[in-house]
Amino acid sequence: MKEILGIDVGGTGIKAALVDVESGALQTDRHRVETPRPATPDTMSEAIRQLVGEFDYKGPVGCCFPTIVVDGHARSASNLGEAWRDVQIDHTFERATGLPFIVFNDADAAAVAEMRLGAGRGLDGLVLTITIGTGIGSGMFYKGQLIPNLELGHMAGKDGEPFEAYASNRARKAEELSWLEWGDRFDAFLKRADRVCSPDHFIIGGGISKKFEQFENALTISTPIHVAKFLNNAGIIGAAVAAVQRL
Ligand code: BGC
Repeated sequence: MKEILGIDVGGTGIKAALVDVESGALQTDRHRVETPRPATPDTMSEAIRQLVGEFDYKGPVGCCFPTIVVDGHARSASNLGEAWRDVQIDHTFERATGLPFIVFNDADAAAVAEMRLGAGRGLDGLVLTITIGTGIGSGMFYKGQLIPNLELGHMAGKDGEPFEAYASNRARKAEELSWLEWGDRFDAFLKRADRVCSPDHFIIGGGISKKFEQFENALTISTPIHVAKFLNNAGIIGAAVAAVQRL
């Protein structure tokens, strides 16, 4: 199968496109719906049903989701809300759409896209892809193999709060931080991740990676940092690419 529908479920929007899984190229425009509030299994199922209905598509769907995901099951609730904890995500969306769903953690999916087809191609050793959005996601590859569900955004940061509460893009916007002020916080996060995991490379993804030059001067670690090739589309692409490997 060469083209798969990829869906990226985020804290603020749900995005989808048909993906050529050999090249990672989007074969259609990206469609987006707002993440409903509250984001419950029912409200999200309706949003996913609408989104899938915008495509003339009848195959399996690769979907990435902003929680810990084990065998299609949400092991955490993260930024979506408690209603998602312990929900079988794949079955929920299958019931809503009538299509088979293969579900991954969103940062793991972004890491798959970058490592197989993007900025991580040819990088060896331990590579950490960090996605910055509503939360902070992390996808770890070691010698070409994904180690799933690493949750570096939940390391304790300032005052014992999860680091992402302080250094995510949501915190930057909510506190109206300048790029350099926010960059200092992100640097503290990277230093901690570097100390804990000793990666050979970092890849920085999520929407904010487009603004890398605005905060790069705040970053002080010596580990090489690469900007994601697929920017904000890495989740959609990685979900589709990873889904094919499970079919
Ligand atoms: C979640 C992670 C997710 C990240 C990015 C965090 O709050 O715990 O599973 O990858 O947000 O969406």
